[in-house]
Amino acid sequence: MKVGIITVSDRASAGEYKDDGGPALKKACAERNWEVGAEAVIPDDLERIQATILSFSAQGCGLVLTTGGTGITERDVTPEAIRGIMRVEIPGFGETMRMKSLAITPNAILSRNLAAVVSSSLVLALPGKPTGAVECLEFVEGAIEHSVKLAMKEPTSC
Ligand code: MTE
Repeated sequence: MKVGIITVSDRASAGEYKDDGGPALKKACAERNWEVGAEAVIPDDLERIQATILSFSAQGCGLVLTTGGTGITERDVTPEAIRGIMRVEIPGFGETMRMKSLAITPNAILSRNLAAVVSSSLVLALPGKPTGAVECLEFVEGAIEHSVKLAMKEPTSC
């Protein structure tokens, strides 16, 4: 499975601090033998987020992971960007991420995590904190490969 990883952060994209979220997700992909085919660090800008997701999808990334911009500050627009280009949202992903994350931190309730089908890709919006992003990926990973096959219109066993 080819994966695209997008770090959404004004400060990381401006070089004000190191991007730790992208590398943390890259390591998680390597541990699962998923090929990382595209990576980007971009600001919290709705159109940039949409253009990057669509570009990664067009490059054949069946799974696109975003990290950051899921919270409630004025700059947090990742969910709105995804909803503006998605075909369908898959609410169970966000519900599961929040439910399981609440056992770790009460602040998980602030994350508007979501999953959606955009073009032929499954897009997961993960929180910006690197440990949180990897935790949320782990909580839903059992459903990822099947969802990616459906998004890519590949045959599935069920
Ligand atoms: N979920 C998990 N599993 N672990 C975390 O540390 N951090 C929370 C939440 N979800 C967190 C988490 C916090 S503090 C915030 S503000 C929201 O994700 C939104 O983060 P974002 O705006 O960086 O995407």
